[in-house]
Amino acid sequence: MSDTEDKLWSGRFRQPPNELFQQLNASIMFDWRLAPYDIEGSIAHARALMGAGVLTDEEFTAIEDGLRKIMGEFLQGDLRFDVADEDIHSAIEMRLIELIGDTGKKLHTARSRNDQVATDLCLYIRDQVKQHLSDLVALLSALLGQADAGVEAVMPGYTHLQRAQPVLLAHHLLAYFEMFSRDFVRLWRVLDAVAVMPLGAGALAGVNYQVNREAVASELGFARPGANSMDDVSNRDFALDYLGAASSLGVHMSRLAAELLLWSSAEFGFVEISDAFTSGSSIMPQKKNADACELMRAKAVKLEANHQGMTNLMTGLPLAYNKDLQEDKLYVFDTADTLGVTLPVAAEMVRTLAFDHQAMRAAAWDSFALATDVADYLVERGVPFRDSHRIVGELVRWCIDEGKTLAELTLEELRERSDSFDDGYFEIVDLDAAVARKLSYGGTAAGRVNAQLDGARTRLKGLVQTVDELD
Ligand code: ARG
Repeated sequence: MSDTEDKLWSGRFRQPPNELFQQLNASIMFDWRLAPYDIEGSIAHARALMGAGVLTDEEFTAIEDGLRKIMGEFLQGDLRFDVADEDIHSAIEMRLIELIGDTGKKLHTARSRNDQVATDLCLYIRDQVKQHLSDLVALLSALLGQADAGVEAVMPGYTHLQRAQPVLLAHHLLAYFEMFSRDFVRLWRVLDAVAVMPLGAGALAGVNYQVNREAVASELGFARPGANSMDDVSNRDFALDYLGAASSLGVHMSRLAAELLLWSSAEFGFVEISDAFTSGSSIMPQKKNADACELMRAKAVKLEANHQGMTNLMTGLPLAYNKDLQEDKLYVFDTADTLGVTLPVAAEMVRTLAFDHQAMRAAAWDSFALATDVADYLVERGVPFRDSHRIVGELVRWCIDEGKTLAELTLEELRERSDSFDDGYFEIVDLDAAVARKLSYGGTAAGRVNAQLDGARTRLKGLVQTVDELD
């Protein structure tokens, strides 16, 4: 099929397109996924053409029936795609003409593939975002479930990956609840960005027909038509917003994945990842590898790259439509596929984690994680913080040399370094007491963490309701 006659735009040309150029030019190999959105958009457009007096009622019905038939073919996997069709928009239009004859040739009145493709992509992203939001709620709820179960468990909190101060496991997990809640909001906002309809902008300048854009917008579930036809066909901010939100979500998933990889290693032994999300080695019989986490980490790189790629694609593009924009879908589809599989796995993996509270507690204890509390204790006794910091630092140094923990020191040994030490010291070097003292708002004391849990539960309920209300 390389004859110029076979193209919808063949009139102006003397020569058929070069075969290799056809390969380069075609997007049907990937944009076929837009078919259902393209068909719905075409039906709404045809209805507007009827309203504008371009189509009779009968013609509209013939077009609608034809398009619904094509939808059926697509859903059955019977719609055939050919590189010569160029893109999904042309393929559907040509199939319509094949099915219903000349009336089908009227469908493309008052529209362009430029406003058509931007519309399809908005609709596609809208559906993807709804799915991601629901998957994200499952991840948030898994985190909350684990946090609930870990509200008694003390673990070392880290800075620089060195044991720093004890925290509750729930506190650590709720940090991820905060991160993923922000992602929920970012993704949610994408729904606003895709609520502005490009259809009706024509190629770039608007169209010569009285199509009711508001009616088309409401039929397709948009909030409103775009206010500027040139922006309508050249705007891809909604795709950038989507890819940006997905990228941030990827970053957060990668951090969680990296921690779980560390925590599930023999060196930490804090958590066991369910067998269902791990795999073995073809040579080392003992191995249980946390592949799901490694892939979550690696998939984040793709999500970030897609955002970056799309940003680069838009950079310096003159108005209005340019064929460069055809490539936008590669980034969007890849992100949708990547999130589509990664998020549900993350949720289920988190839900099935088995934490070893004993091991976490031992790691928190077997360290100098209470040194800051000892420094604060001296401050309470009137020692300036800078001096108490030095005194406790020297104590720690001495303990390391002597192979002792802070709790094993005698009052005599303590008083050699400062006569501000008294018996109260021994109540200070206690893991639970140290956690309980972090009473400041947002701190790790049980009361504060329970309040966080309450807040998280309420917020999650709201998010579940939000997702349920999405049609
Ligand atoms: N396949 C094209 C895309 O994805 C559709 C728009 C083509 N417009 C054009 N004037 N060639 O962007």
